[in-house]
Amino acid sequence: MYATEHDGGTDVVDDDGLTAFRRAEKRYKLHRTQIVRTRADGRRKGGALETREVDLSAVVDTLDLASLARQPGTRVSVHGAPSSEFEVHGRTHPAAYAIDGHPGAVLVPNALSVDEQRDWVRIAVTESCEPPARTNHDAALGPLKGLWREAHARPARYVRVQSTDDGGAGPETETETGTGWRHISPEPTGGDPRVNLAATRLLEKMRWATIGPPYDWTARTYDMDAPRRPVNARWLERCVHLANLAATVRGADASPFAGRFAGLVNYYRAGDALAGHVDDAEVDTSKPIVSVSLGCPCVFLLGGTSRDVAPIPLLMRSGDAVVLAGLSRRCYHGVPRIFVSGEGCVDGRGVALGCPEWLGNPDAWPEEPDVARYIAGGRVNVSVRVVD
Ligand code: OGA
Ligand code: MN
Repeated sequence: MYATEHDGGTDVVDDDGLTAFRRAEKRYKLHRTQIVRTRADGRRKGGALETREVDLSAVVDTLDLASLARQPGTRVSVHGAPSSEFEVHGRTHPAAYAIDGHPGAVLVPNALSVDEQRDWVRIAVTESCEPPARTNHDAALGPLKGLWREAHARPARYVRVQSTDDGGAGPETETETGTGWRHISPEPTGGDPRVNLAATRLLEKMRWATIGPPYDWTARTYDMDAPRRPVNARWLERCVHLANLAATVRGADASPFAGRFAGLVNYYRAGDALAGHVDDAEVDTSKPIVSVSLGCPCVFLLGGTSRDVAPIPLLMRSGDAVVLAGLSRRCYHGVPRIFVSGEGCVDGRGVALGCPEWLGNPDAWPEEPDVARYIAGGRVNVSVRVVD
């Protein structure tokens, strides 16, 4: 063991040079290896990607919280009756759980109904990334109006960017749409540089959107004067109730979830991760953050106030919420891994991990087949914070 100095303080690292948090990230992240075969003529051919098996035995599955809370000696305690809903502030809520060693963090499995989850996913992908919301694409490409629509128009259309103007198909094959999108046919292939700007690909590369006052990642502040897309009223209402529920669980140290709200939507595709961090940009960081998981399950690492503290790995599933309040509000957390079906990962019960059928199967959700197909391949996290 030794210590390294950095601007955030001192990290204790083990012989492998990693902090406890980093080691957990490494343990759970997606490892893919390509099987390379040597053909008869001696040439080597890259085959399918194989997913390395991940050991989830130390992970606390939100599905098991109720039974863990009933067993003495586990780290989980339950508030409310684990199998039924209970009433807080005049509304019924699912049970909420606290975890020993992580004061202030409250887990609410199954916080959203199936209809709510569908509604939230649809809003997250079709509305929350529309200008004036800001997204990770803004810096390079400016606002992408109608990205969802264009990504599902056939053939796909492509954003207009100067550097792509001379490459590939000539102007006679392009149609201006008046929205900043250029319709190109035939569809470019992998060799065409514009393929990177295909709406379909830009949607796959959508990583985050900020709603409410936009967050400036460089200045690490909220831009209170910028035009904004308001936080969806149904999201806000649900998050306020979840924060109230968590406050009841936590007792006296509760700091009210009130003020000006901002939302952050994180989009994850297979292999995407969110590195460990502390959300410290909000003016009053004693106010809770309410965070809701949607789509494919993930490992959520909940650590301590330094990276030296080994995080507890939680398996979060669609509809689960975590409220970070009190001390946990200043704790490291991150998402090293999401589980898309077909990767061959199973939970502790031996059940394959992936997006729930009723959300990710277009036959089960015929009203929104494109949204179902999208969420089958990823995870969306909605977090609501108090910024002012
Ligand atoms: C965040 C965050 C975690 C998640 O947006 O700050 O920590 O579950 N998200 O995606
Ligand atoms: Mn965070």
